[in-house]
Amino acid sequence: MSEAKGQGWRDEVMQRLRQVKYPGFTRDIVSFGLVHDLDLEGTDLKLTLKLSTPDPTLPEKLGQEIRDGMKGLLAVKSVTIRTEVAPPAAVASTGAQGIEGVKKIIAVASGKGGVGKSTVASNLAVGLAQSGLKVGLCDCDLYGPSQALMLGCREGVQVEEGTERIVPAVCHGVKLMSMGMLLGDDSPAALRGPMVTRFTQQFLRQVAWGELDVLVLDLPPGTGDIQLTIVQTVSLDGALIVTTPQEVALVDARKAIAMFRKVNVEILGLVENMSYFVVPGTEEKHEIFGSGGGKREAARQKVPLLGEIPLDPEARKCGDEGKPVLLVRASAPAAIGFLNLVNSVTKILFPNISA
Ligand SMILES: Nc1ncnc2c1ncn2[C@@H]1O[C@H](COP(=O)(O)OP(=O)(O)O)[C@@H](O)[C@H]1O
Ligand SMILES: [Mg+2]
Repeated sequence: MSEAKGQGWRDEVMQRLRQVKYPGFTRDIVSFGLVHDLDLEGTDLKLTLKLSTPDPTLPEKLGQEIRDGMKGLLAVKSVTIRTEVAPPAAVASTGAQGIEGVKKIIAVASGKGGVGKSTVASNLAVGLAQSGLKVGLCDCDLYGPSQALMLGCREGVQVEEGTERIVPAVCHGVKLMSMGMLLGDDSPAALRGPMVTRFTQQFLRQVAWGELDVLVLDLPPGTGDIQLTIVQTVSLDGALIVTTPQEVALVDARKAIAMFRKVNVEILGLVENMSYFVVPGTEEKHEIFGSGGGKREAARQKVPLLGEIPLDPEARKCGDEGKPVLLVRASAPAAIGFLNLVNSVTKILFPNISA
């Protein structure tokens, strides 16, 4: 139609659509891939919103924000929005791909920092490796990597000749790669916005993992751009959500669950960490962060509670020494909890392997 149609309106409209955030997220509806079939007929802007959740309030909410966002735009006098609730498989087409040679990829995540994600991820990884599986662990926490320390890995980064891919280190039978290994101590802070996204995508595609049964991704805390970039870059077989029993942690765990569901990643289950503390040498059990939080939330979310790991000074100590507790203090309370978790996860990922 008019000259304006082929020109500026699209950029301007897209820019305004990028201001419309998906409820509960810092990410906008364009980068979530929800906006389709954008067209201008006369002065009527037409678009389709492809949603993955059948929440009836969502089209209305987003529609209102989109209309408000177009106010003052000369080319657009009205907005016609079609809503499609796509079946999960169709929405998952965000470009996420598997990694060649890797059978299963799982994420260990939480909304909150400090709940024990990295401790769970490292113990899970060495536990799976101990049971004979080929395991990789990828520390995706760009700003606070801890796996090199927790697995006692002092190796630097090697680059594969010819392919220029990064070769992971091997610690306690686990192939380890950490985003932190590629950056100097103070450079992550300089990486922002789109650079972080690009770095993360490249990183995830450039590691020479070889043949793996399981790759465990230790995610940074939160439900922001980095987490979404990760789940939209590699296709995950599922996510484990780590939480502690108290409400402040559960609130964030819920956000993480919502994020994964939004991008159609299955929640394999909840892991409650720091569930209780048993005074050494006694039966005295203290539920320091309250009791039953993980169990209640798992029931609410209709996902299994895969572990209740006690608060155990040995877990902290072994982590600091670079030797996961499961490996070096098998009888410690936390180690027993981690071993149960390893068995549950193995059953879910490889139902044909008998434990
Ligand atoms: N079950 C546990 N018992 C005792 N200390 C723990 C336990 N889980 C984690 N920790 C300690 O708590 C701190 C935070 O754990 P970390 O795994 O780094 O959390 P996150 O990755 O979620 O930020 C670490 O010092 C770790 O050793
Ligand atoms: Mg961590």
